[in-house]
Amino acid sequence: MGRAFVYVIVGGGVSAGYAAHEFVKRGVSIGELCIISEEPVAPYERPALSKGYLLPEAPARLPSFHCCVGSNEERLTPKWYKEHGIELILGTRVKSADVRRKTLLTATGETISYKYLIVATGARPLKLEEFGVNGSDAANVCYLRDLSDADRLVDVMQSCSGGDAVVIGGGYIGMECAASLVINKLNATMVFPEAHCMGRLFTTKIASYYEEFYKSKGVKFIKGTVLTSFDFNSDGKVTAVNLKDGSKLSADMVVIGIGIRPNTSLFEGQLTMEKGGIKVNGKMQSSNTSVYAIGDVASFPVKIIGETRRLEHVDSARKSARHAVAAIMEPEKTGEFDYLPFFYSRVFTLSWQFYGDNAGEVVHFGDFSGNTFGAYWINKGYLVGSFLEGGTKEQYEAIARATRLKPMIEDLGELERQGVGFALSV
Ligand code: FDA
Ligand code: NAD
Repeated sequence: MGRAFVYVIVGGGVSAGYAAHEFVKRGVSIGELCIISEEPVAPYERPALSKGYLLPEAPARLPSFHCCVGSNEERLTPKWYKEHGIELILGTRVKSADVRRKTLLTATGETISYKYLIVATGARPLKLEEFGVNGSDAANVCYLRDLSDADRLVDVMQSCSGGDAVVIGGGYIGMECAASLVINKLNATMVFPEAHCMGRLFTTKIASYYEEFYKSKGVKFIKGTVLTSFDFNSDGKVTAVNLKDGSKLSADMVVIGIGIRPNTSLFEGQLTMEKGGIKVNGKMQSSNTSVYAIGDVASFPVKIIGETRRLEHVDSARKSARHAVAAIMEPEKTGEFDYLPFFYSRVFTLSWQFYGDNAGEVVHFGDFSGNTFGAYWINKGYLVGSFLEGGTKEQYEAIARATRLKPMIEDLGELERQGVGFALSV
């Protein structure tokens, strides 16, 4: 049993949705494109799962956040795919790939062949077991990657209202989930090994602003330690979290956000890998010329930084998807992907944006006791990264523009004094 398509996308998340949109914009014909996804629903904006989806009042639910609403474009419902002759094969895992023969084998036993393959398989959460701790399967231990995880998290939260939640990990999932837990009236304690939250991006000064804000909302922090084991009751539910520093935290539920691993296993030994992802060139093309990779799974040359990076953020998923499709459908007209990294988060009433690279010396600016502040990163004399909390649309656009221009910075003191005004003046 088998079917053949010109274009096949394996994976049905954010980047798959934006790729489909771009294929249609560029005139894909009926029956040429197929998306195979393990998830049972059409591509959606994954960031909603740790934000609107977890709200106690009027939570976001599908179909409201199918791609591409996250960038204020049309919403691609299952009907949209049908109308454009795109085959959506949902709830179906691809279990093996043969890039030499240009075929995929699905878990239902179907062989699907392609002329061009786009790998959009995203990533999976790291499990506690990979750190030597058992308990991921307990009914009140939650991870958060897909819709079924989010539904489970909502159910567990609702069943523990007023109780104690322990959040393991001080990254994006930890921060966004801790905020949601408090909003849902649980007592949240965050536990992570670093000296401050968001260690991959925040400086100590930035982190302390968010930690103080979180504390004012009732979140507790236990830093510089990791969990070593859980206590379970006779139903197999976690009742307490044991930490390496010897302390024990009582827990009605646990949320884990300790990082991800890209889903590359289908292609190990077949495509060149780098930085844990599928290595691609500036056209998002892998070491096999018929195979492209986009989103979390792709390690691509970030021109402005001069390095290959794998980015785990929605903006790069959307733009790398559009670029790959352009490169496939109009190769002569499509240049190298020239991407400015963009990360953001929204929690409680806070909202920040970051552009570029957090390398080099840091200059903080603005009012850290108020609502608007930020930081610039200066590497080898040039502005390479900008962070802003509480900015206006115009200010965010300005820091993006300034970071893209990479201006030379001679006087760090003057930059600090000008703050966001510097970006507005560039
Ligand atoms: P994504 O994970 O979206 O999609 C991968 C798809 O491939 C899934 O549908 C999966 O089931 C499927 N798949 C995998 N293996 C398969 C196989 N063998 N066969 C078939 N299908 C397979 N970023 C940001 O910038 N701002 C934000 O606020 C957030 N918020 C956020 C919240 C939460 C809860 C998460 C988990 C992540 C974010 N992110 C984010 C990160 C952002 O969502 C992420 O970078 C993109 O979803 C990546 O898009 P991809 O398409 O690469 O993977
Ligand atoms: P992360 O990489 O942001 O953070 C991982 C955290 O795990 C680290 O900060 C560290 O505190 C913690 N950690 C590592 N080992 C640990 C251990 N043994 N015990 C306890 N803590 C440990 O990853 P995440 O928060 O799991 O997020 C998963 C993915 O989802 C990432 O790709 C992230 O970019 C994405 N995401 C992004 C956003 C956003 O951009 N706003 C929001 C949610 C999720």
